Amino acid sequence: MGLFSKKMKQEHKIMLQHDRAAGTLQPEFHRATPECPEPQRWSMIDSMTAEVEVLEFLATLVTTIKPRLVVETGSFLGVSSEWIARGLQRNGFGKVVSCEFDPVVYARAKERLESSPLKPWIELRNESSLEMKIDGTIDLFFSDSDMPIREEEVKRFLPQINPNGIILMHDASSHHKVVRDAARSMETQGLLSVVFLPTPRGLVVAQPRAGRS
Ligand SMILES: C[S@@+](CC[C@H](N)C(=O)[O-])C[C@H]1O[C@@H](n2cnc3c(N)ncnc32)[C@H](O)[C@@H]1O
Repeated sequence: MGLFSKKMKQEHKIMLQHDRAAGTLQPEFHRATPECPEPQRWSMIDSMTAEVEVLEFLATLVTTIKPRLVVETGSFLGVSSEWIARGLQRNGFGKVVSCEFDPVVYARAKERLESSPLKPWIELRNESSLEMKIDGTIDLFFSDSDMPIREEEVKRFLPQINPNGIILMHDASSHHKVVRDAARSMETQGLLSVVFLPTPRGLVVAQPRAGRS
């Protein structure tokens, strides 16, 4: 980057790293936390895309709970959307709607998914999670956008989430305090029941409290 060029947005920088890595896996580089002291035992494609083990978990969760409608916030390059779609394909039904609000990132994700055999299962939208309109009941909600808006995002979609459905919130490690606090706060408010999975970046598995009655 030249001295006078504009500072590159983090998402765009990591997009280039993703291209350079060309699918090679690296040890997870997020720092150790008390709940996950050996993050290097996990793998990643890049630091925006969810850990490989979390991607695998997404596909397995989809085959386990058989959702008709999955909503993902924060597509980035569409890798997690593909893993969700892999589960849907195995189930033989359902779709994932994923939103990405950065137009440059969205265009790259769209281009990537164009040649993916999983494309028929994925609806990619260039919009913000705080404005996106979804028709119908959401069976699985994967919140993976900008960390400070996760609480607002989950609350916005909660009335549409199946009481027996599942909410995942990524980046909920004790290092990324904001998402962890958001999940705790929604539990205290009586909205969700939450479990924290001790992964490098942290993953909340939650259910609407309405489903516990
Ligand atoms: C952590 S990355 C998503 C990674 C992706 N889920 C994966 O694992 O492959 C977060 C993405 O959310 C996008 N984003 C941030 N705020 C958003 C919002 N309000 N609505 C939609 N996308 C948003 C960012 O541009 C970024 O590409």
